[in-house]
Amino acid sequence: MGIERSAILGMGFYVPPKVVTNEELARLMDTSDEWIRERTGIVERHYIEGEVGVADLALPAAKKAIERAGITKDDIDLIVFGTLSPDYEFPGSGVLLQAMLGRPGIPAIDIRQQCTGFIYGLSIADLYVRAGIARNALVVGAEVHSTGLDFTTRGRDVTVIFGDGAGAAVVGAPRVADQGILSCALHSDGSYAKELWCDKPGSRYHPRITAADLERGDHFPAMKGRTVFKHAVTKMPAVLDEALKSAGVALQDLDIIVPHQANLRISEFVQGALKIPAEKMVNNIQRYGNTTAASIPIALCEAWEEGRVKPGALVALVAFGAGFTWASTIIRW
Ligand code: UT7
Repeated sequence: MGIERSAILGMGFYVPPKVVTNEELARLMDTSDEWIRERTGIVERHYIEGEVGVADLALPAAKKAIERAGITKDDIDLIVFGTLSPDYEFPGSGVLLQAMLGRPGIPAIDIRQQCTGFIYGLSIADLYVRAGIARNALVVGAEVHSTGLDFTTRGRDVTVIFGDGAGAAVVGAPRVADQGILSCALHSDGSYAKELWCDKPGSRYHPRITAADLERGDHFPAMKGRTVFKHAVTKMPAVLDEALKSAGVALQDLDIIVPHQANLRISEFVQGALKIPAEKMVNNIQRYGNTTAASIPIALCEAWEEGRVKPGALVALVAFGAGFTWASTIIRW
């Protein structure tokens, strides 16, 4: 039996304890605290230590989300795991989390939509729950960037931006009237795939990676920052508008807006273009950097923990990133 709407019932996030400041990065490459703060807003980020993968970061975030939803792990019957930095080439990190949680047999779906991964994941969970196929879906966004970055001056434009972390949400049947996910708008345009990407290892190459590739740094993420920036500041307002229209609500009705934490300047640009009051915007990139699929659930969960997301609040999530992909969702809390 299907239901009309699904809702976020609980959230959690986890970042590894090690904090890395801009000054520490400036000791490794030609950059500065001033440049990083001015161009991105970032002050520090968290990095894993030792052999820790995204499933390890996702586990404490998931446990907290489950506890806050007032259910147990045995009530979870679907995992949707968004990451661009899976523990292994295969299998996906969703099955690793499923085993760690101790939920044998439940389906685990991995999705690869990078910065929009959490919103894509929510839309999948929403459909499964509304269709009555899942009762409680666990949606995760988690990244370990720090083991895949170029810590020389060659990689400075990308490396200073990213951080590690995980966020999770339980999606199930609404607990109170009017609560729920009102709309999701999802888009992609693969003609921009190489504007923000990681070339190697890739299944089209024989072998998938060579010593020469490693020497050139083809295994590090590469980005045309200005192109990404330009598309982000036009696509984010447009997709937010589309999600608002589809939900039948107005921009002014929103209580809180959680943009993907890509760059503080992008958030401020979107805020300025749409004339959104600053107190409605959630920005925490200063402390976590850009954690890609984890950035929205971390920011949303932290805003909730700070009491900024109250019962009945109208919440918008909006993201743009690699793919290109862009997405937005409107949620009545
Ligand atoms: O979440 C995924 C989506 N990603 C994004 O949304 C990122 C979007 N793009 C951006 O956030 C910005 O483009 C960056 C923060 C990546 C770069 O900022 P920018 O203002 O666009 O700088 P730029 O790439 O145009 O570079 C300006 C200068 C260059 O030097 P020259 O050519 O002017 O001499 C760069 O080499 O800054 C230099 N530069 C740096 N200098 C110090 C680039 N990175 C650094 C660095 N430290 N880390």
